[in-house]
Amino acid sequence: MVSPSVLSADFSDLKSQVRMVERYASRFHFDAMDGHFVPNITFGPVVLAGLRKCTSLPIEADLMIEHPGRFVDDFAGSGADIIVVHVEADRHIHRTLGRIRDLGKKAGVSLNPATPVSSIGYILHDVDEVLVMTVNPGFGGQRFIESMIPKIRELKKAISESRLPVEIVVDGGINLDTGKKCVAAGADVLVAGSFIYGSRSPVSAIRALKKL
Ligand code: DX5
Repeated sequence: MVSPSVLSADFSDLKSQVRMVERYASRFHFDAMDGHFVPNITFGPVVLAGLRKCTSLPIEADLMIEHPGRFVDDFAGSGADIIVVHVEADRHIHRTLGRIRDLGKKAGVSLNPATPVSSIGYILHDVDEVLVMTVNPGFGGQRFIESMIPKIRELKKAISESRLPVEIVVDGGINLDTGKKCVAAGADVLVAGSFIYGSRSPVSAIRALKKL
């Protein structure tokens, strides 16, 4: 499955950017950044509500923010279907994940490149997806970190052994080459920003990713 990251889209015409690739996408990825958890600021619940009007596909809000627990109700209210919180950003992540599910949304946890799979061993039951950051979060267009491949494999093994229906999502530096390696290692969903929206033909780019 492919999830275009709107971070790389042209915001002067977001609706057309979404509609252009919608047919080939399984969901859209929305990176909220606060300038604290990551060194960049993007958008929040108000812009999410606008994106919500552009598509009926699921929207995955990736909260790259400190204290995500304070904001999950707002993102749910603005139309996110999946809410992802970073394990490094929340001291009480078990509570936050429970809150996301209580709101009727799918819950995800994200791991920065330096964070081990073992950090989420006790919350694997509480999530619908694990998002493996394959770059340091904050910016689109960065180079894929190759050492994340064995991490994806390790995560796949842990999920298979637990027999839980947890999806593996990979995010950052995804193109045809890195995407293929991630799928081989066990990834279910490829998030791609610049490879899709930075290409001359976003439609060809997403179609090619879908075939991996
Ligand atoms: C990076 C973001 C990604 C970003 C990916 O912090 O999490 O979603 O949009 O962009 P590319 O595909 O350009 O690496």
